[in-house]
Amino acid sequence: MGQNMEKERVLVIDFGGQYNQLVARRVRECNVYCEIYSYRTPLEQIREMHPKGIILTGGPASCYEEGAASCDPELFRMGIPVLGLCYGAQLMQHVLGGEVKRAENREYGHTDLTVDTAAPLFAGVPKETTCWMSHFDYISKMAPGFTSIAHTANCPVAAASNEEAGLYAIQFHPEVLHTPEGSLMLRNFVRDICGCSGDWRMDAFARESIRRIREKVGDGKVLLALSGGVDSSVAAALLSRAIGKQLTCVFVDHGLLRKNEGDEVEAVFGPAGAFDLNFIRVNAQDRFYVKLAGESEPERKRKIIGEEFIRVFEEEAKKIGRVDFLAQGTIYPDVVESGLGGESAVIKSHHNVGGLPDYVDFKEIIEPLRDLFKDEVRKVGLELGIPEKLVFRQPFPGPGLGIRIIGDITAEKVRMVQDADAIYREEIAKAAAEWTRDHSSQAAGNAQDHSSQAAGNAQERPAWMPDQYFAALTNVRSVGVMGDERTYDYAIALRAVRTVDFMTAEAADIPFSVLQTVMSRIINEVRGVNRVFYDLTSKPPGTIEFE
Ligand code: XMP
Repeated sequence: MGQNMEKERVLVIDFGGQYNQLVARRVRECNVYCEIYSYRTPLEQIREMHPKGIILTGGPASCYEEGAASCDPELFRMGIPVLGLCYGAQLMQHVLGGEVKRAENREYGHTDLTVDTAAPLFAGVPKETTCWMSHFDYISKMAPGFTSIAHTANCPVAAASNEEAGLYAIQFHPEVLHTPEGSLMLRNFVRDICGCSGDWRMDAFARESIRRIREKVGDGKVLLALSGGVDSSVAAALLSRAIGKQLTCVFVDHGLLRKNEGDEVEAVFGPAGAFDLNFIRVNAQDRFYVKLAGESEPERKRKIIGEEFIRVFEEEAKKIGRVDFLAQGTIYPDVVESGLGGESAVIKSHHNVGGLPDYVDFKEIIEPLRDLFKDEVRKVGLELGIPEKLVFRQPFPGPGLGIRIIGDITAEKVRMVQDADAIYREEIAKAAAEWTRDHSSQAAGNAQDHSSQAAGNAQERPAWMPDQYFAALTNVRSVGVMGDERTYDYAIALRAVRTVDFMTAEAADIPFSVLQTVMSRIINEVRGVNRVFYDLTSKPPGTIEFE
């Protein structure tokens, strides 16, 4: 769907920088649609997409080195505004006849910045502000036609522009939150300089998407892999709105779901639920366990689970008769992280994308959410009237507990992680509810003074409340003592992260008393577990899941 959207779009050209997805997100926050493409994308292809603007991202290389990622100089002469960020800025200068050199000291971190407030790129930005710098190389001489529009103590050209040519170069990173005015700068670029009207909104997306699905599917039949997670649920709702009972949702219980989750999914999407669709539940636990037996390599496990999924769908499809489309809840970060969109290395092959076998018994794949970020998917979910509880449910990966059991998988290990995870979730929910109770009584007390503000505060959640949290089973067994007996049992790891976009994350600061309660319940109630760890790792360097 992404390729033919007849809408205003900005292209983010990826030079391998770590923030490429963030750039795209920030642009979308300005209600402007954008997509990420590798710097290897041919100029012709870029031209054919008729972008309103182009952003070149950062990257790890030095632009003057042999073999460094580069671009066709024509890119800057197409009459389309171009904004280069960090590496992109240096490359623009280098290609157009400026000079980039290695600095003696790396400029890194929060840096005071002075901007030319008359420059359109900095409209509304205070003259003195701060930015996030991360570079070794610097622009030692600007390309002809450029003027410096921002500087720092060590960097005379922190930003440069050639207004006439519509070219802009920024040495720092406006896309990260550490550059407080960065969003405004990007907004100035895409809305004012590129002239995008900012009509990319989720209600419009839902309407347009429903229209496209109807057009594409005709009277065909669609089979959807429904996991009960946010992505596939929103995909199901969108498809159900578009084509009703032409949609069959197959919910595969692969035996790697959270405790009781199978029944919960059935309650929402099954015949007793509120959606117009055909719902089939397949209890395939044993099949998956057999296939996974003895396998401990993470990527192999992911592939096995993904492939087995497709096999189950194929079988269901045969039973149903003619099926024309296989629908999936793939979202944009899955596409990019799988290395299919931009330039980034394959970090994990996501279940939704990576596990597709060569032989698929369907006419076509349909992925209605392929262009959306997670927060956009949630907005669409709300537009379609999916209950908030489901829309804001924490993410659960396609391979499920399969990637939360480090090493090989057995039914027994699944039971341990399910039970531990259920306890963890129960206790976090309890602690959060207590916090809210205390907080709202406080708010009610204040209500005489500032009623609306107090009511607003009552909606808040504790600062430690994680955006995603779960138990994982480590492959570590250790000696312990329980009663008078020696034990040699498994260790559970508790993971809890605070994150805005799931691309970067920090460990959540859950009160120690809550962790202690969870620990003691797990050790007392979950047979086979005698130790509990709390994972402090942020992302990067860790990922949120363990495998
Ligand atoms: P990582 O582990 O990559 O996770 O930091 C980022 C977010 O993605 C979820 N995740 C997945 N979701 N299929 C999915 O649909 C997958 O294979 C998968 N792997 C990770 C993870 O739970 C986190 O929210």
